[in-house]
Amino acid sequence: MATGPSRLGWPRTGVLVTGGASGIGRASALALAEVGRPVAVWDLDGDAAQAVADECRSLGVVAHAACVDVAVTSGLSDHVAATAGALGSLGGFVHAAGVSGAAIVEDLDDATWDATLDVNLRAAAMLFRELVTPFRAAGPGSAAVLVSSIEGHFGSAMLPAYCSSKAGVLGLMRSMAQHLATDGVRVNAVCPGAVDTPMLAPAFDLLPGFRDQVESRTPLGRVSTPDEIARPIRFLLSDEASFITGAHLTVDGGMTAVTAI
Ligand SMILES: NC(=O)c1ccc[n+]([C@@H]2O[C@H](COP(=O)([O-])OP(=O)(O)OC[C@H]3O[C@@H](n4cnc5c(N)ncnc54)[C@H](O)[C@@H]3O)[C@@H](O)[C@H]2O)c1
Repeated sequence: MATGPSRLGWPRTGVLVTGGASGIGRASALALAEVGRPVAVWDLDGDAAQAVADECRSLGVVAHAACVDVAVTSGLSDHVAATAGALGSLGGFVHAAGVSGAAIVEDLDDATWDATLDVNLRAAAMLFRELVTPFRAAGPGSAAVLVSSIEGHFGSAMLPAYCSSKAGVLGLMRSMAQHLATDGVRVNAVCPGAVDTPMLAPAFDLLPGFRDQVESRTPLGRVSTPDEIARPIRFLLSDEASFITGAHLTVDGGMTAVTAI
């Protein structure tokens, strides 16, 4: 059984967060720990994952850290078993591990395409394969949130692999929502706009005027903090979202609601 305090509306089962060492994944792990959910922090960066797990523990929950390359799917079964054992149950999943694979198509090599699709999309699919059994064991109320992007709906000349992976994530999300609905497991996605994380930092640093351009195209006039994506993720994992499955929630400060005339 999961331990730690849990507020009404949040199941007590453990949540696996991939990419949990940084940005949206880190914020999600902490947001979930805040409401008493045991959390597993998986990341390529094992030391940073451990530091986030320590922060979660300081909020009073069981937390587990693991150095995992989610693209190496042959290892996922063992990591999921270890995580379920450490947390006591596994009834939540946030796929926040991601890479941008930025390259115009003339410069796009096979390795960049494969790495982008492997981390952003294939890993999520193969993790569902491993999570079906623990989710069923955890019972109705289990839920997953995949981090897609507004780029899952739109094209970008600089991001053909990324946009493809994020559109694929939405297809995977809908397919898993149908497959797992009879078990009472919900599956949704969030589509963030621009978020202040290490992923976006190089673009803001290297492209003059890019931040101003993004902010001026966003009705709320700024990029979001990771917390502002983590809280909607936490909501979708909670019983407050009990009739929401197969949906994507756009969290972009209004950017895609308006045209750039
Ligand atoms: N930052 C944005 O503006 C933005 C917008 C929309 C969607 N997203 C998506 O949000 C998710 C989180 O990104 P972020 O902005 O927090 O970036 P980030 O770089 O801060 O975090 C991504 C994390 O994923 C980890 N990771 C990468 N490859 C991995 C692998 N093979 N195995 C395990 N971990 C791996 C990294 O080590 C890092 O800790 C990504 O899927 C990203 O595409 C980000």
